[in-house]
Amino acid sequence: MRIAMIGTGYVGLVSGTCFADFGHHVTCVDKDQGKIDGLLAGRMPIWEPGLDALVKQNVDRGRLEFTTDLGAAVKGADAVFIAVGTPTRRGDGHADLSYVYAAVKELAHTLDHPVVVVTKSTVPVGTGDEIARILKEEGAPEGTTVASNPEFLREGAAISDFKHPDRILVGAEDERSREVLAEIYRPLFLNKAPLLFTSRRTSELTKYAANAFLAMKISFINEMADLCEAVGADVQELARGIGLDNRIGAKFLHAGPGYGGSCFPKDTLALLKTAEQYDVQQRIVSMVVEVNDTRKKAMADRVSDALGGDLAGKSVGVLGLTFKPNTDDMRDAPSIPLIEKLVAGGAKVTAYDPVGREQAEPLLPAITYADKPEQVADGADALVIVTEWDEFRALDLKDLKARMKGDWLIDLRNIYDRADAERAGLHYRGIGRPGSQA
Ligand code: UGA
Repeated sequence: MRIAMIGTGYVGLVSGTCFADFGHHVTCVDKDQGKIDGLLAGRMPIWEPGLDALVKQNVDRGRLEFTTDLGAAVKGADAVFIAVGTPTRRGDGHADLSYVYAAVKELAHTLDHPVVVVTKSTVPVGTGDEIARILKEEGAPEGTTVASNPEFLREGAAISDFKHPDRILVGAEDERSREVLAEIYRPLFLNKAPLLFTSRRTSELTKYAANAFLAMKISFINEMADLCEAVGADVQELARGIGLDNRIGAKFLHAGPGYGGSCFPKDTLALLKTAEQYDVQQRIVSMVVEVNDTRKKAMADRVSDALGGDLAGKSVGVLGLTFKPNTDDMRDAPSIPLIEKLVAGGAKVTAYDPVGREQAEPLLPAITYADKPEQVADGADALVIVTEWDEFRALDLKDLKARMKGDWLIDLRNIYDRADAERAGLHYRGIGRPGSQA
């Protein structure tokens, strides 16, 4: 199959590269000349484990190309995937579809043969209908069809998620779209990944429902963590106790500082906007969002409580800035409201992140950036673990304590045991574990 992928952001680049790795011929197209030049020179615009090697391998084998020329990219293509950004629209919480529609218009004018146009970007219900309308209005070749094929990959584990999906979801209204997508994904369902065909609207909504449900699990366990702290129970044991029930499932039950990233915050808001538009209540998702927002803002209070309620002149070391490990993504990261509040309270903050510094600096200009994790401990009254990078899991706690002025370890990801911290002379406060309450 010949595939054109419009947009070389996270989803587009990973999907395009993996399709090429299946043996398809893929041309990735992006308007950003700098990005394309970088990719042609082997520089990745995002930090994703294993991606650079996979891109190189497929470029070398002649299956993966990069261009800014849409006409060249769609020449002879069977399918054209749209993987441009759908950020939250400024001011109103709706998904901003201007990039999607601009790409579709240009595509309609460029195509010289019918293709299957596939949305990979997360798009609200009805976007496929609107794309079909625009294609027709703008004179796309007769027989061009529109399908929805949402992506379920996680940043940091994107390649493995793409190659070992729990399911492949295709929303289509015609046989040609179903045939082309089945052929594109054939290597995966030979591996037994279920290929689920639904209507286009169902597929579009299913993507939002999946992210909202996962966000709900996180907000649920975070509130349970608060209750655990109050009653002296342990949220990690509780999560295991409920997670072993197959009906519940063990994943996405890690209590922490609240979910962030480019998907859950944006998609839960967009889902609420869709519900509002159709005048249907979504009280659960609305509460999930509220619980998460409140939680992220409350994380700084844990630090200030530990330090006696006054942050002025205190020194705080922060380990981890990105919204999760194995990514440089800072979008909606819990570290942002935490650090902003610490700084506003008069604390001096020193932070370390293995790869997120460049993305973090413009967002958090008022802090010092360390080059090594242990440096954040120098003279610190408290250390806060915000992101569970592997390199923070086996730090020499005694050495950290020796470097510090104070003795608080506030572990927002529960990667240490209280006993180990106390043996190193630290006061420990985790999340939802006995002794973690203020
Ligand atoms: C998420 C979904 O997991 C993917 O399936 C989906 O395709 C993607 O959004 C998307 O819509 O594109 P991602 O945002 O990359 O992927 O990251 P996750 O691993 O889901 O983590 C999201 C946030 O939830 C992070 O802030 C993480 O720390 C938090 N989280 C996750 C928890 O606090 N507890 C958990 O148990 C799991």
